Amino acid sequence: MADLGRELTLEAVRITEPAAIAAAEKVGAGDSDGADQAAVDAMRRVLNQVQIVGTVVIGEGEKDEAPMLYIGEQVGTGCGPAVDIAVDPLEGTTIVAEGRQNALCVLAIGERGGFLNAPDVYMMKMAVGPRAAGAIDLRKSVSANCKAVAKALGKPMQYLTVVVLDRPRHQKIIAELRSLAVRIKLISDGDVSAALSTAVPDTGVDMLIGIGGSTEGVLAAAAMRCLGGQIQGRLQPIGADQVKRIKAMKIADPDRIYNTADLAAGDDVIFSATGVTDGDFLKGVRYGEHWIYTHSMVLRAKTGTVRFVQAQHRYEKARVNDRDAGRTA
Ligand code: FBP
Repeated sequence: MADLGRELTLEAVRITEPAAIAAAEKVGAGDSDGADQAAVDAMRRVLNQVQIVGTVVIGEGEKDEAPMLYIGEQVGTGCGPAVDIAVDPLEGTTIVAEGRQNALCVLAIGERGGFLNAPDVYMMKMAVGPRAAGAIDLRKSVSANCKAVAKALGKPMQYLTVVVLDRPRHQKIIAELRSLAVRIKLISDGDVSAALSTAVPDTGVDMLIGIGGSTEGVLAAAAMRCLGGQIQGRLQPIGADQVKRIKAMKIADPDRIYNTADLAAGDDVIFSATGVTDGDFLKGVRYGEHWIYTHSMVLRAKTGTVRFVQAQHRYEKARVNDRDAGRTA
């Protein structure tokens, strides 16, 4: 199958919007699990109204650890195109719990077998936007990569802005970046948003480097397929348990470097993200008189269309929609 159908593009945003509305009610509540659950419930309800034969390939975990949106779960009405679904119902659960920036609800739709069935382990990643696509290479040092990206972007190294998750495991990377005198933006969470921000104009972000979740790597790759950016990833298990997970999935070469199209393959990929809290390229959910406002980015690889969708949802209808969706789910 080479065409997912353009209708699915707008269906995708209909799925991430209610998830964001649900999660946004938990901003600052100190309840990351509750925020995640609210997003999962809302996303699943709407997903099951969409005319697809969908299989979740990136989700909330294995069947025994996630009651909803688990890997292998069948979603959709059961009629329509057979597609694979990758979700992160709430990317940045702690961000929402603490009322910080850049929490997103994320969904990608791909052709059957298009998304890497990534084991739930860490992944070393580098990502850049379209102008620097082709310049990164995980086999090379952080310095060599920064130099190549600065050259591709036509800017002096001191004006290169690199995002890194603020984690002790990144001490060496941060030290190397500081020795280059590039600008570093340390973030508490949310490397899908950080990867995407390298490919969206005017975010001020040029590059993402560091170790984050592998499933987040697949979702970022889905977006990069549409935006023309590049992401590379290499599984980076931390601890015996993660090594076991990789072995259990019988991955032939655990050191393989995955490029954008290895993580998210196929002619057509659809991606949608709705902001939960304010971020680098999406506004968070807002509340006005009678209305809830959402801001989303919806992308399609086949056409290369990038849509920013601002929507208004009536308070009472948003609730009715949830209830109706619950009945059909
Ligand atoms: P959650 O939404 O599951 O909390 O993930 C947020 C996140 O920051 C991801 O963006 C990132 O890939 C991963 O966690 C990093 O993992 P860790 O917090 O274990 O360093």
